[in-house]
Amino acid sequence: MRTKVGIVGGGPAGLMLSHLLHLRGIEAVVLEARSRAELESEIRAGVLEQNTADLLAETGVGERMKREGAIHHGIELRFGGRGHRIDFEDLVGRAITVYGQHEVVKDLIRTRLDAGGEIHFGAEVVDMKNVDSENPSITFRKDGENHELSCDFIAGCDGGRGACRPAVPEGAFTSYERTYPFGWFGILVEGPPSTRELIYNLHERGFALVSTRSPEIQRLYFQCDPSDDTGNWFDDRIWEEMHTRLDTEEWTLTEGNIIQKSIVHMRSFVCEPMRYGRLFLAGDAAHIVPPTGAKGMNLAISDVRALTEALAEFYESGKKNLLENYSETCLKRVWAVSRFSWWMTGMLHRFDGDDAFRHKMQLAELDYVVGSRAASTTLAENYTGLKYRESG
Ligand code: PHB
Repeated sequence: MRTKVGIVGGGPAGLMLSHLLHLRGIEAVVLEARSRAELESEIRAGVLEQNTADLLAETGVGERMKREGAIHHGIELRFGGRGHRIDFEDLVGRAITVYGQHEVVKDLIRTRLDAGGEIHFGAEVVDMKNVDSENPSITFRKDGENHELSCDFIAGCDGGRGACRPAVPEGAFTSYERTYPFGWFGILVEGPPSTRELIYNLHERGFALVSTRSPEIQRLYFQCDPSDDTGNWFDDRIWEEMHTRLDTEEWTLTEGNIIQKSIVHMRSFVCEPMRYGRLFLAGDAAHIVPPTGAKGMNLAISDVRALTEALAEFYESGKKNLLENYSETCLKRVWAVSRFSWWMTGMLHRFDGDDAFRHKMQLAELDYVVGSRAASTTLAENYTGLKYRESG
């Protein structure tokens, strides 16, 4: 088998890359280890930056998002028992779209298959050869048989635990990492929403977030011990914890039927450079952000946007400038977004050993963020998405 770009991973990064390449007339094959059903049901964050929503719409995969996604013009920061709205529209004239990541995945899969795109589900990469030459190849196993895919380039879009990053020689990449000493206990709740916009809340007992998936489904999280077990939390205990952290004098959380419980671990991770020879990493394969700020998929989409430009330049003119600059271009944004996610995480969570002084500092910072137009604008600009630079 032969193609121009062998894409390992069929999450948002890999699928969007194959879609964007197709629009530029560049042939690609996607190899995905999981089944289509698994991929389409994986519940992740659901906040699209303005950039991401615009790109999906401009490239013809935004129809259902426009119909079913909810545009939010602000978020609420809640602390000291009071809510404060950050008005994105007023501050930066931009908005976010709340639309589940798995919905984006479904739309991309359907669009690619309708256009005759090649996606192999249940295809596990077992080997990659000649990655540092002009003729790399990928060996994958599907239905008990090995196949070989020869290509010009490999895009490693296979997430934090994928095969691509570990396939390069020791020492080719440097990684930077921060593990946070807490997790998020997440629940999906059937029932009417408690709020129109997302609420990010700091309480003495820790962080809590009220988000939504659809008019019928709420997505709620609260900070927990990362080694905790969902089995320790009966519904009553969850609701009591959520009410304690979130309720104010004027507002109480609307309960519903809990249909799913899970614990999300929190990590910042960046791999440098994002390229080895003809292997280009994109999305979670290259970097992980903690979910505070919901940047993961947005960053993946900005990577593949830059990679598409670089590959298009190469195939249209033979020039390699953008390919050579891919890692540097992406890493600027990756570090900017890592900083924002880390900052939001630090401002809104209780850390082990935090004393009363640190809590006062957090409250003073939040007070500043909601009280100063300059500080609110900083949050709004980052949350709705830093504008793409010319070079990516
Ligand atoms: C979510 O809806 O799952 C969500 C929203 C905002 C975040 C993280 C996750 O910051």
